[in-house]
Amino acid sequence: EKQLTLRGKKVLITAGPTYEPLDPVRFIGNHSTGKMGFDIADAAANLGAEVILVSGPSHLNPKHSQVKVIRVFSASEMYDICHSCFQDVDTVIAAAAVADYRPKVVATQKIKKNDETFIIELEKNPDILASLGEIKKSQYLIGFALETENEIEHAKAKIVKKNLDLIVLNSLNDEGAGFGKPTNKVTFIDKDFNIFPQELKSKEEVAKDIVSKIVQHYEK
Ligand code: PMT
Repeated sequence: EKQLTLRGKKVLITAGPTYEPLDPVRFIGNHSTGKMGFDIADAAANLGAEVILVSGPSHLNPKHSQVKVIRVFSASEMYDICHSCFQDVDTVIAAAAVADYRPKVVATQKIKKNDETFIIELEKNPDILASLGEIKKSQYLIGFALETENEIEHAKAKIVKKNLDLIVLNSLNDEGAGFGKPTNKVTFIDKDFNIFPQELKSKEEVAKDIVSKIVQHYEK
């Protein structure tokens, strides 16, 4: 029987939320805990891959001692680290919930309470995964799609827009799926738009399924 292995492969994984600073004490963030991405990192390392995990703020630590964790705060920091690693890696799995927008101005001092309403102007963050999709050569690129409506349609659009090989769709309409939970319910969609819905599973099991998709790709 053939053994599942990713020995000799370098895998870059993003995880967690990003925090977009507003002033020295405040930020705009989201509910990602990092668990999905940390579980994928462990699963890939368990198959012998060399793993670089770029994580936004998270209390988690990898279980596997060989996972190299690089901790970042904002999307632009995550962007820089991902680009500095990209030419060197074989596979990317983007599980991070990257903020699409950031405050246009970051105050150097704590913003004082003043008027009854307070307007924050936001500007677009770079799309990390799309920017990697643009320059990819032989890298196998896996993205996530977190959706709340028209899930399949939106996920397919992301495959095209970000030049992905595979997307892992999770929907906040599915019980037990998404942020924080120990479980997830995902649907794999490949670049030919073949759709593979999965059962509700622990995030560890989902992570194993994702890394076996990578193994299958390299066996072809
Ligand atoms: O961390 P947990 O609490 O375990 O929760 C897991 C999760 C719900 C965060 C995870 O399963 C998940 O769905 N991650 C992707 C969340 C997301 O932001 O999806 P999206 O559809 O907005 O983004 C699509 C893809 O582009 C993602 O791979 C994302 O990492 C990437 N992206 C998005 C925006 C951006 N500026 N840069 C990116 O790289």
